[in-house]
Amino acid sequence: MCGIVGYVGPQDARDVILEGLRRLEYRGYDSAGIAVVADGLLSSVKKAGKLANLEKVLAEHPLPAATVGIGHTRWATHGGPTDRNAHPHVSADGSVAVIHNGIIENFAALRAECEAQGVEFRSETDTEVAAHLLAAAYADTPEGPGRLAEAMRVISRRLEGAFTLVATAATEPDTLVAARRSSPLVVGVGDGEYFLGSDVAAFIAHTREARELGQDQVVEIDRHRGLTVTDFFGAAVEPKAYTVDWDAAAAEKGGYDWFMLKEIAEQPQAIADTLLGRLGSQGELVLDEVRLSDQELRDIDKIFVVACGTAFHAGMIAKYAIEHWTRIPVEVELASEFRYRDPVLDRSTLVVVISQSGETMDTLMALRHAKDQKARVLAICNANGSTIPRESDAVLYTHAGPEVAVASTKGFLTQLVACYLVGLFLAQVRGVKYEDEVSAVVDDLRRLPEAVAEVLAAMEPVRELARSLADADTILFLGRHVGYPVALEGALKLKELAYIHAEGFAAGELKHGPIAVVDQGTPVIVIVPSPRSRESVHGKVVSNIQEVRARGARTIVIAEEGDEDVVPYADHLIRVPRTPTLLAPVVTTVPLQVLACEIAATRGLDVDQPRNLAKSVTVE
Ligand code: AGP
Repeated sequence: MCGIVGYVGPQDARDVILEGLRRLEYRGYDSAGIAVVADGLLSSVKKAGKLANLEKVLAEHPLPAATVGIGHTRWATHGGPTDRNAHPHVSADGSVAVIHNGIIENFAALRAECEAQGVEFRSETDTEVAAHLLAAAYADTPEGPGRLAEAMRVISRRLEGAFTLVATAATEPDTLVAARRSSPLVVGVGDGEYFLGSDVAAFIAHTREARELGQDQVVEIDRHRGLTVTDFFGAAVEPKAYTVDWDAAAAEKGGYDWFMLKEIAEQPQAIADTLLGRLGSQGELVLDEVRLSDQELRDIDKIFVVACGTAFHAGMIAKYAIEHWTRIPVEVELASEFRYRDPVLDRSTLVVVISQSGETMDTLMALRHAKDQKARVLAICNANGSTIPRESDAVLYTHAGPEVAVASTKGFLTQLVACYLVGLFLAQVRGVKYEDEVSAVVDDLRRLPEAVAEVLAAMEPVRELARSLADADTILFLGRHVGYPVALEGALKLKELAYIHAEGFAAGELKHGPIAVVDQGTPVIVIVPSPRSRESVHGKVVSNIQEVRARGARTIVIAEEGDEDVVPYADHLIRVPRTPTLLAPVVTTVPLQVLACEIAATRGLDVDQPRNLAKSVTVE
């Protein structure tokens, strides 16, 4: 998830682009760069770190004045946040510059093809491949109007994965070209000027007239010839025009009131992006970036999953999946407790540290302890190049994009997906699961984005329910099996967002004491497992619902479609799509996120920045 800006028009492109990048910096801040075309020359500057670093360089070494250019703020996926990996990427012959948002899945094969033709790569990114391919296609395309657009169509037909590419060429001072597949891009139409942006925040200060681009489309913007949109084969397309009715601040939140709401809505795409490039065409897993050899993975005889807060809940769910698929014993530990209990670690121990920010001090100190004890450490992290992955032996990045709200949502769901990938990969490498068993689960993983989108489309009753719970002074959450960590996560969301006392329980534990707190009208939220699950805890959870209801509880039940057993005991019933038991937390967590967010908003609280909390806790 990166920030993309393009401009063609009478204004100074440098100013327009930098202003647009400032508005998009929330989409990525690992590095930033800009390229402009002036006097037949393509000039570019790029710098690791926040946009301010780029602006500092530009102040000392200004680009030439220009009226066409592109700019980018990066959220790193392939290749760390360095100057060399920053965008724009310029082709070897200096003829074109490209910026990119997304993941080019077949970049490795295309890179090998370019290298075989003598191209020397300067970065580790997938994007650089597009720059070299575009230059070659451009050179092979006859001169004249539409040349750069045709070259973009040629390469777009070869790329696999998700991409928004925006390009400019040294010999095209009046033109910008872009292509999009499964990654955002929108056109702003001003008075004699045009804008490209990964979202409208890039240009809303200049125009509210926008054009929506569809899947597999190429847009050409020419100062004189205007806007031309085609599909990847050149057939003309009429883009849908619309007027943006958000203000600039709302635009950064995608029109949502809170970043958290936007990030909840982004979860299907975040899951899809985290799976992208990691599921082979035969249903096998392809985790090249997990730099532990197959033999090292086969030598593992114990796994610890270590994390804090929401990431710890992801680890609890990972335990069920990894043990079930690999038969390796898994312990889940709070990072703040881990190293003080002198755990037994050695070379055949794998410690999986989970951290959205990659900077949580408790988790970092646990990692260092594990390394001191010669254990191998694998990080699951969302922030490319942050401290935790840098100090780990291997990393599997989630591709959720920046998570701005303190309360983790898409970070959590993508951590679950990454944990599933690690568990399945271990089973595949160690031969504990047959190929068809792995590919069956892979098929289930592929369906998760759609399942989450289905839940999100039915959240209005949950928002209504939330408003009726806003005055509750305590809410209990119950679950069994993988539903238990979901109960803990739901309680944490409510505590950190709405400041309401909330507690998650293993439903089977209720009768051993906690049920005493259930009073008349106490809201109790119950995550019900699938009635089809082999673990057959479904009946027990239905009994637990009856137990609390018999004591006056107001029961709010999350259950899969078709589960009729719960209906007589649910004061409120929230349906989720049928999902295999181990993957069910990906869908059952979503209503709890929405509930907590809506209750906090109803109570007039700051949903994105709750009191006493920080997005990344960098103290022990
Ligand atoms: C979750 O909503 C909280 N923001 C918090 O529990 C968070 O998960 C925890 O601090 C760990 O953060 P990390 O994933 O960045 O390491």
